[in-house]
Amino acid sequence: MARLTLFIALLPSLVLAQDLGVPTAWREFNNSRLFAERVSIAKSAIDTILPQLDTSTAQFNGIGYWQSANVFASMANFDHLANSTTYKDQVIDGLTTAWKLYTNFDLNLVSSSISRNIVYRWWATAAYYAHRAYGDVTMLSMAVTTWKHVSNYVVTAADAASGTQPNKDFKIVSTCYGETMAGGVFWRPTSDDTGINSITTGLYTTLSAFLAETTGNATYTNAAILSAKWIQNLQISDSGIILDGVSSEDCTRTAASWLFTYNSGKYLEGLSVLKDVTGAAIWKTLMTNITAAAVKSPVWQGSNGIITEGASKTSNNDGVGFKAIFIRGLDEVSARSSDNSKLQILIHSYNDVQYNALLELAANGTSYSPSWPGPAQGYTTWGQMAALDVMVTAINTNSP
Ligand SMILES: *[C@@H]1O[C@H](CO)[C@@H](O)[C@H](O)[C@H]1NC(C)=O
Ligand SMILES: *[C@@H]1O[C@H](CO)[C@@H](O)[C@H](O)[C@H]1NC(C)=O
Ligand SMILES: *[C@@H]1O[C@H](CO)[C@@H](O)[C@H](O)[C@H]1NC(C)=O
Ligand SMILES: *[C@@H]1O[C@H](CO)[C@@H](O)[C@H](O)[C@H]1NC(C)=O
Ligand SMILES: *[C@@H]1O[C@H](CO)[C@@H](O)[C@H](O)[C@H]1NC(C)=O
Repeated sequence: MARLTLFIALLPSLVLAQDLGVPTAWREFNNSRLFAERVSIAKSAIDTILPQLDTSTAQFNGIGYWQSANVFASMANFDHLANSTTYKDQVIDGLTTAWKLYTNFDLNLVSSSISRNIVYRWWATAAYYAHRAYGDVTMLSMAVTTWKHVSNYVVTAADAASGTQPNKDFKIVSTCYGETMAGGVFWRPTSDDTGINSITTGLYTTLSAFLAETTGNATYTNAAILSAKWIQNLQISDSGIILDGVSSEDCTRTAASWLFTYNSGKYLEGLSVLKDVTGAAIWKTLMTNITAAAVKSPVWQGSNGIITEGASKTSNNDGVGFKAIFIRGLDEVSARSSDNSKLQILIHSYNDVQYNALLELAANGTSYSPSWPGPAQGYTTWGQMAALDVMVTAINTNSP
């Protein structure tokens, strides 16, 4: 009887064990650089992109609007992790400029080549990071105001029940594959666009969770939970990574080949904050499982572990920015997992694979190729932008 009880007591931990081992096939997954050197490498990488900043528009030459927000995000996160204010003025000036030029950061993208999507959510997150790094309350209020703007494109529980959404002119489905559509966030504001996707919903989950943590206001907690559940219920693939999108009109999924790092990365960032805000075990387990699956996914990397997504040497593309978002999400998971050293080791090993590849295979001085397995090439703003999150994350994930 005693043995049976012991057996049963041990069972859950055996069943829930997730493989957090570091694959030995990964290329150079360690790093012995000290803190000051890691800070210096990250700072040099940022300083190499800064000449491209047009302060009158808050845009960086050579990359798109959403990607420019992510350069400011990396700068704020650099200061957050290095405990400095090196880029405070540039970050706050840049976000303030964008805010003045585009109400709610909402650049109206109506060109024929870029379909308008809810691109301003990236800027809202950058504003949150700026608040976190510098304690600036105006930045926080920009994040809150933009959160409200994005909230107009969330499927509420009432919307799912009624089959209508105030900003959409078609009948939406209440459920897909047996799961409610409540919590999903529309990708594009256009009234006839049916797509709901993981990145928009993941960004909303993350921003909601950060605002919940910062303000203690349950409105944000509830929003984060509803959207996190939507992804949990509908968007996890058989191999444990996050799928792209679903039509809210007929549940059609985006192409099976649409597997992008940032969908897992942004969701992981949100889950890491949500587990701390709620203390609920489910979010921690989900975060751990998706991290283990995503860093080992053959979809976007070679067996050596180096990410190959968005590696075009000749033109900017969205994919090059995706992998940066993935790494940033992993950094947040690591920062919030001091109770799980195996998970932290897995993440720092993974980032070191990318870090060492950039420094050894893709570097030309302090500029980095968009192709992380190399070879090095001349400077491109998109390649530089993508490398920043790896450099900034290495400040945190390595020690001392
Ligand atoms: C990885 O660890 C080995 C053994 O300690 C060391 O020689 C090597 O320099 C480390 N690699 C990096 C990039 O720090
Ligand atoms: C961060 O910097 C401030 C001001 O320079 C200093 O007072 C504080 O001790 C630093 N914190 C850490 C954790 O290094
Ligand atoms: C909580 O946040 C929501 C959304 O921003 C806001 O409408 C509400 O007034 C806030 N509640 C409190 C008590 O501040
Ligand atoms: C996490 O992974 C374990 C092991 O594969 C599995 O048993 C468990 O159901 C998963 N939990 C969640 C919440 O995904
Ligand atoms: C390094 O960058 C410079 C300036 O962009 C370029 O002229 C040179 O060809 C690059 N070197 C390599 C090895 O790609």
